[in-house]
Amino acid sequence: MRYRLLLFLQMINLISSGVLPPRKRFPDAIIVGVKKSGTRALLEFLRINPLIKAPGPEVHFFDKNFNKGLEWYREQMPETRIGEVTIEKSPAYFHSKMAPERIKSLNPNTKIIIVVRDPVTRAISDYTQSSSKRKRVGLMPSFETMAVGDCANWLRANCTTKTRGVNAGWGAIRIGVYHKHMKRWLDHFPSQNIHIVDGEKLISNPADEISATEKFLGLSPVAKPENFGVDPIKKFPCLKNDDGKLHCLGKTKGRHHPDVEPSVMRALKEFYGPENKKFYQLTEYEPYLRIIHTCRNPDSPKALTIEIPLGDAKKLRRYFVLNNYNVDITEKGEEDKYTIGGKRRFQ
Ligand code: A3P
Repeated sequence: MRYRLLLFLQMINLISSGVLPPRKRFPDAIIVGVKKSGTRALLEFLRINPLIKAPGPEVHFFDKNFNKGLEWYREQMPETRIGEVTIEKSPAYFHSKMAPERIKSLNPNTKIIIVVRDPVTRAISDYTQSSSKRKRVGLMPSFETMAVGDCANWLRANCTTKTRGVNAGWGAIRIGVYHKHMKRWLDHFPSQNIHIVDGEKLISNPADEISATEKFLGLSPVAKPENFGVDPIKKFPCLKNDDGKLHCLGKTKGRHHPDVEPSVMRALKEFYGPENKKFYQLTEYEPYLRIIHTCRNPDSPKALTIEIPLGDAKKLRRYFVLNNYNVDITEKGEEDKYTIGGKRRFQ
């Protein structure tokens, strides 16, 4: 009995001193998508936190490599110690029919992370990536043809029927109908296990999005604005090393996008309008207008901030009352800031 107690105490000691040898474990969290929304940037930036460990390449276990078995999957993971968090990222899981169910059956407590961005930008990014890969095989038809025209059948894209004038069967468009895929995740995981990252904010304010994700992972946030700088050419955020040098993502990230005909942009925006609305309803994730108003009246507070759902903001007249002060939104002062972002009421 005394021997067992001694062994037990030794184990506790080893665990608390972090001496137990590291080992490969199934992931605690998975970045499941959405492809071309900033998933690589998210993972690279999360690595600022020394407790976050991830395999380098995308594993694609729950979609393409499932027949390789669970031990193969575990083998792909980095070695971790107790208290460290293992994350993998395979952005095609988001639109895979099988992935949610398979992940749940491995571990129903897995934390699910989803980066979303404007589906029109995402579709153009997806097209840019495919056409850069197809340069060797032959030129891809233009984005416009693929999105609204009779797109090439050799691409095996489903362009036979149109929805509101758009080739909704083309993968680049279909993936952006977020609510359809999201529904599957919500059918398998409770909303507190799902974290949505705003892909646009990940570009404009990476520190905030990374800290929120660290918190979701149960870690104390390490990411700070001073960890980031901006690539002077691509204008995307990069990690800033201690010596001030920028470490940016590779040349396949932050590619130059083609200019798309305005009429096609309009058609896509109209197509996605009702689809986005369904996604917001599903996730209570809606675009909002944030106004930071600098007061000139010495009797007023220095600055007032208001966040209004974009739909309601459009209905605003010239004035609105904020904390009993009248704010005139048509007279935007130089110090006033108006930003549009995604407001999350969903964790
Ligand atoms: P583009 O290369 O088309 O601009 P993913 O990593 O999921 O494949 O997403 C790639 C997209 O992430 C890029 O698409 C780019 O727009 C966006 N992105 C977000 N943050 C970035 C960053 N810090 N550096 C480069 N690209 C970033």
